[in-house]
Formats: sequence, C-alpha cells, structure tokens
Amino acid sequence: MLYVWIALGVLTTSWVLWNLSLDVLWQPTDRRTVRRMLFLAGVKDGETVVDLGCGDGRFVVSAAREFGARGVGVEIDPLRVLWGRLWIRLSGLRGSAEIRRGDMYRADVSQADVVVLFLSPTANLKLQDRLKREMKPGSRVISYYHPIWGWTPEEVGEGVAGYPLYLYRMGCDETVAGDPRAGATL
Ligand SMILES: C[S@@+](CC[C@H](N)C(=O)[O-])C[C@H]1O[C@@H](n2cnc3c(N)ncnc32)[C@H](O)[C@@H]1O
Repeated sequence: MLYVWIALGVLTTSWVLWNLSLDVLWQPTDRRTVRRMLFLAGVKDGETVVDLGCGDGRFVVSAAREFGARGVGVEIDPLRVLWGRLWIRLSGLRGSAEIRRGDMYRADVSQADVVVLFLSPTANLKLQDRLKREMKPGSRVISYYHPIWGWTPEEVGEGVAGYPLYLYRMGCDETVAGDPRAGATL
C-alpha cells in the first residue's frame, strides 16, 4: 500500500511541476463571461470556434450547445482533455464538439471562424504570427484579459468580473498593421 501512495505522490508532483513549466496555467473563465465572449465574437450557427488551451472545454461546450457552432478545443494537459471529453459525451455533443490533445502552438486554425484565447502575454505573442498568417479573412479572435500586442481591436468588451475582452477581425489591415513586438515584454 505504501508503494501506491508513493507512486501517487510522484505522479501528482510531476504533474504539478509539468504544469508549472507551461506558458499558461489553468484558470477557467466563468460561464457568464464565456457566453459574453462568444456573443461579442458574433458566433453564428454552423461556424467553427477553436479554443486554444481549452482547459475543461467550457467554450467548446457552450459554442456547440448555445450557439449552434462546431466547437474544437486544443489542450495539452491529458487530465483536462479527459475531463472535457467526458463533459462533451455527457452533454450529448459528440457530433458538434471535440477536444484534441496537443500543443496549441501547432494547432490548425485555418478552418476557424473564431479563435478564443485566455492565455498570457507570452502565449499571445508566440501565437499571433500564425493567427495572422493562417486565419481566413473575416474570421475573429477574441481574447480574454490579455490584448494582442500591436493589433487594434475592433471592439473591447468587459467580462463579468470587469476584465477586458478584446475582439480582433482578421484580414483587416487596421487590425494587424502594428509591429507585434512593439511594447511587448516577455
Ligand atoms: C487560462 S487556461 C484557459 C482555459 C479555458 N480556455 C478557459 O478559458 O476556461 C489555459 C489553458 O491552456 C492550456 N495550455 C497551456 N499551454 C498549452 C499548450 N502549449 N498547448 C495547449 N494547451 C496549453 C493549459 O493547460 C490551460 O488549461
């Protein structure tokens, strides 16, 4: 029995240390802000919403259940992937929502109508070139709390706790004209 406890202790410690090595730790967005963000992003029936670093998949579930969209989450932590997949299954959304285990820095965003970010300044900075290059014209990026350096938001909303929501529209010169590194600190 002692060995089981030791193994559990080692596994838990490794998991916590590994999580601390990521650019972003898990912190879920509250449900009302999730809805507010999807609403601000103008998510419509049949659109594809991709949440990079999706945690337990709450954006994916809400996009599919409440907005009629296809929800795709990308998450690196296997435990949260499992939890999110279970939630999708229990919600009966397997046809319209999915969670992919993987690295968001390599995720395919070319099919996304909306990309959701609740990350960190570092992660946003690492992602923005790919978003600019790969997302289609007219698609949107909505970021909770952290702006994207050098980009001009089309709109700035507010989450229920008063933190900002930044909406960007792709393929629009004013959005991404700035130097992404200007003013950025890593
Ligand atoms: C602040 S949480 C946001 C979770 C969810 N989007 C929400 O708003 O409730 C950030 C998530 O990003 C995940 N993450 C961090 N680095 C990642 C990476 N390289 N690839 C995929 N997911 C990552 C973390 O495990 C965590 O679940």
